[in-house]
Amino acid sequence: MSFNINENIKWVGKIDWELRKFHGEELSTFRGSSYNSYLIRDEKNVLIDTVWSPFAKEFISGLEEEIGLDKIDYIVANHGEVDHSGALSLLAEKIPDTPIYCSGNAVKSLKGQFHKDFNLVTVKTGDKLNIGKKDLIFVEARMLHWPDSMFTYLTGDDVLFSNDAFGQHYANEFMFNDLVPESELYEEAIKYYANILTPFSSLVIKKIQEVLSFNLPVKMICPSHGVIWRKNPEQIIEKYLSWADAYNENQVTIVYDTMWNGTRRMAEEIAEGIKMDDENISIKIFNSARHDLNTIVTEIFKSKAVIAGSPTVNKGYLASLAALLEFIKGLGFKNKKAASFGCYGWSGESVKVINGELEKAGFELADEGLRLMWHPGKEDIAGLREFGKKISRAIK
Ligand code: FEO
Repeated sequence: MSFNINENIKWVGKIDWELRKFHGEELSTFRGSSYNSYLIRDEKNVLIDTVWSPFAKEFISGLEEEIGLDKIDYIVANHGEVDHSGALSLLAEKIPDTPIYCSGNAVKSLKGQFHKDFNLVTVKTGDKLNIGKKDLIFVEARMLHWPDSMFTYLTGDDVLFSNDAFGQHYANEFMFNDLVPESELYEEAIKYYANILTPFSSLVIKKIQEVLSFNLPVKMICPSHGVIWRKNPEQIIEKYLSWADAYNENQVTIVYDTMWNGTRRMAEEIAEGIKMDDENISIKIFNSARHDLNTIVTEIFKSKAVIAGSPTVNKGYLASLAALLEFIKGLGFKNKKAASFGCYGWSGESVKVINGELEKAGFELADEGLRLMWHPGKEDIAGLREFGKKISRAIK
């Protein structure tokens, strides 16, 4: 499969309909993904990025249907991660003399992963490569999301090849933003941002400001995953600026694990209390042992507060919630409050331990937490609802 981006640029990547986990088992991809590779034709022919290693042969045979490989004058590797550079190895075996333009950090990451003698040419921000009537302009985008990440801008067509930035794990036959359901597109775009790019939010803002300061018109943004931002591409730039700036909505996420349903019943009454305080708030409730971790992370990203619960087990708390809090710790969410709850039979440490983890993850505790011995009874309902109201008032 290939299709035209415009009269000079062709998409020659791979749509991966089957992908359900990415980065090993780290990230769920319920709608699959795509690895976008682009072939630019001018006086020189340029290939921007490749695809994930398992699709290398398929990719190269498709590419050969478009162009003789020896007619590719330049390759650009915007990022060394294998989902974009995986097919480089096989391609470079076939056209070993074709120069591969990449950042200085990509020289290290490509050599470190592939151990091949690639014909690498290092570029830095502002460097230009003339390809005939047009130029490629390179912009290093360190830590968006690897040290080697880079954007490439094509003059004349005014296209920004942004690699992972602005991407989505979203397989669709219609690969343009104006042809797919907007709700699905943004569901995947915000999930991608929340789970992958949140730790680099201050760099996202700086990089977008830097690119905007070049005053280059952007008619299209071509990321390396998912659909191409063809209609109103500035919409995703504006979203990124908003998501990168300690984003939240009027939402609270309650997430818990439970052994015999006591902590689940606490969660439900806490939610009732929040609802009694604010009828316009969005309340998301998840059992961390039964729900997808990345979906929960996305909802916490959208929330003003997270309320985390677990019964006490072996002086600690349950493992599914621990996995979630460990993941969140690395993301460095900003400007969010938190509280914890849980029931217990005898020692009752879970609330204290969860509070410590929430603080390490950068949340501000809105309360010292609520713990209940054994199961909640009728006499506990008012207190649980009051706890919910208190958290709701704390995020006003
Ligand atoms: Fe960082 Fe899509 O690879």
